[in-house]
Amino acid sequence: MGREIATVGVVGLGTMGAGIAEVMARNGLRVHAVEIDAAALNRGRAHIAHSTRRAVARGKLTAEQAAELLDRIEYTVDLEPLAGADLVVEAIPERLELKRELFRRLDGICSAETIFTTNTSSLSVTEISVATSRPARVVGLHFFNPAPVMKLVEVVRTVVTDPGVLADVEALAARLGKSPVTIGDKAGFIANALLFGYLNHAASLYEAKYATREDIDAAMRLGCGLPMGPLALLDLIGLDTAYEILDTMYKQSRDRLHAPAPVFKQMKTAGLLGRKSGRGFYTYEQADVPTVV
Ligand code: 3HC
Repeated sequence: MGREIATVGVVGLGTMGAGIAEVMARNGLRVHAVEIDAAALNRGRAHIAHSTRRAVARGKLTAEQAAELLDRIEYTVDLEPLAGADLVVEAIPERLELKRELFRRLDGICSAETIFTTNTSSLSVTEISVATSRPARVVGLHFFNPAPVMKLVEVVRTVVTDPGVLADVEALAARLGKSPVTIGDKAGFIANALLFGYLNHAASLYEAKYATREDIDAAMRLGCGLPMGPLALLDLIGLDTAYEILDTMYKQSRDRLHAPAPVFKQMKTAGLLGRKSGRGFYTYEQADVPTVV
């Protein structure tokens, strides 16, 4: 019989972390939501409040359910409230040393039973796990953007993962209404390893001016039945995140498929990060609405 997961910590409330905290609370879990400072905490809280209001407006949640959901989340800038959490999800920026340092600190605070999960999209879960005294209780739990909507989570096991822990995390994913797939620890796991060569190629086509952004996106939406074209999807993912994922996969495999197209670094340096900064391949006057400039 698996371990009952009732209380979780979510560390990092950017686009992914806020979405993950919302999904957890929506499914009855108590959530300690942690950010580095008050300003970041308020941004995370606003993100969750906005998303919840939207769900009420669309008739997906009643006002009462939304209030209960929000009540299950406690916001804090301290890690200490995570001491008694059954599971922690880490969703901080994609820098290995940052993640290893966070887990080192959590290791000293949380109960020996607490399961540690990382939402990393391309870093090594094994390297993260060995920063703790409990590598057998550390797994990848990779959500997709937008986390409240996308059905997939990738559960990443390492060579030392305890099978019971893996089963508990897979059961949690199912409880969240997600379909878990399980994979060993390789850069990009399943979905990003297959997706990002395509996205990189689309950025190169655009950069070489073979076609307009609208035509590149229309080709894949209308010709291949995808919900979004690749450039719009890159704006959703974030150009900084996309660059980091490609760069990590390229460094691991040296496969030119994943050598980041130069345009990623240029846009990242110029602060054109996609939807979250208001401009990427497209310009956004308000969230979710691309406008042509
Ligand atoms: N947060 C919460 N809910 C959202 C949302 C968001 N950011 N964006 C859309 N939704 C919800 C809407 O409320 C709506 O819910 P409902 O059907 O229950 O009413 C539903 O999603 C559909 O939204 P819309 O009608 O506004 O728009 P679309 O039908 O165009 O769907 C989309 C939007 C779900 C984003 C769709 O275009 C899509 O599936 N795009 C592809 C997304 C994708 O490929 N994600 C994976 C990226 S890779 C990744 O995340 C890995 C990482 O490591 C980088």
